[in-house]
Amino acid sequence: MLFHVVTLFPAMVEGALGHSILKRAQEAGLLQVRVHNLRDYTHDRHHVADDAMYGGGAGMLLKAPTFFEAVDAIRADTAQRRGQEAAQKLRVVLLAPGGRTLTQPVAEELAREEELVLLCGHYEGVDSRVEQSLATDVLSIGDYVLTGGEMPALVVVDAVARLLPGVLHDVNSARDDSFTTGLLQEPQYTRPPEYRGMRVPDVLLSGDHEAVARWRRREALLRTLRLRPDLLVLADLTPAERSLLKAMGWRPPNP
Ligand SMILES: C[S@@+](CC[C@H](N)C(=O)[O-])C[C@H]1O[C@@H](n2cnc3c(N)ncnc32)[C@H](O)[C@@H]1O
Repeated sequence: MLFHVVTLFPAMVEGALGHSILKRAQEAGLLQVRVHNLRDYTHDRHHVADDAMYGGGAGMLLKAPTFFEAVDAIRADTAQRRGQEAAQKLRVVLLAPGGRTLTQPVAEELAREEELVLLCGHYEGVDSRVEQSLATDVLSIGDYVLTGGEMPALVVVDAVARLLPGVLHDVNSARDDSFTTGLLQEPQYTRPPEYRGMRVPDVLLSGDHEAVARWRRREALLRTLRLRPDLLVLADLTPAERSLLKAMGWRPPNP
């Protein structure tokens, strides 16, 4: 999958991509990230990409033309590599606090794309014409405000990349993750078997795979009830699991 990240601060994005799983995925050719510097699409001597706001107000806004021209260049390149239709259908995602919240299902949806453009705002944000007629999607990573879209773009790249075939060594590790099943993941342990008086549950050392699977499901249910009971409303639960949760104190909105 190919990501284009359009930013005024390329080093913020590049630095984070050169490590661990994302680095290996790029080296293996499973993931490609092209970082585009907004300054390359300015036309003045000082390469200024921001300006004061019309109507007054504190802070600077990133100008629309640089984003439009950067996406024009990306589209032209896509058209050459994959044809006009792919270029026209390219999804252009503006990172903004007011956008649709990134969730696991949204990451799964984006992972089905072959190529994705991520636009990073900065300072007070981006001229609204980018949202109105350049972006196909507006995405937020949560209800809080960061200084720029670079970290949100990296969050999107990371959440999507780990869903691509081959990026994680074991395909099951993504399949069993929190949210993927509709529940949180069960508690997990590694060596040593006992630490400061805390023992790993005996069943995990038993070698009985069916008993382990049953324990994992039950613990995932109970952990979800404890930490994120809101998820249980949409989770796929058997009648026995619903009874267990109710016995443990769950009060579903529509019992
Ligand atoms: C300080 S923010 C701008 C906030 C904007 N003035 C507002 O109130 O909606 C600067 C940039 O950071 C990025 N950003 C900040 N918080 C974000 C979030 N929760 N999700 C996605 N992007 C975010 C966006 O690209 C945004 O243009």
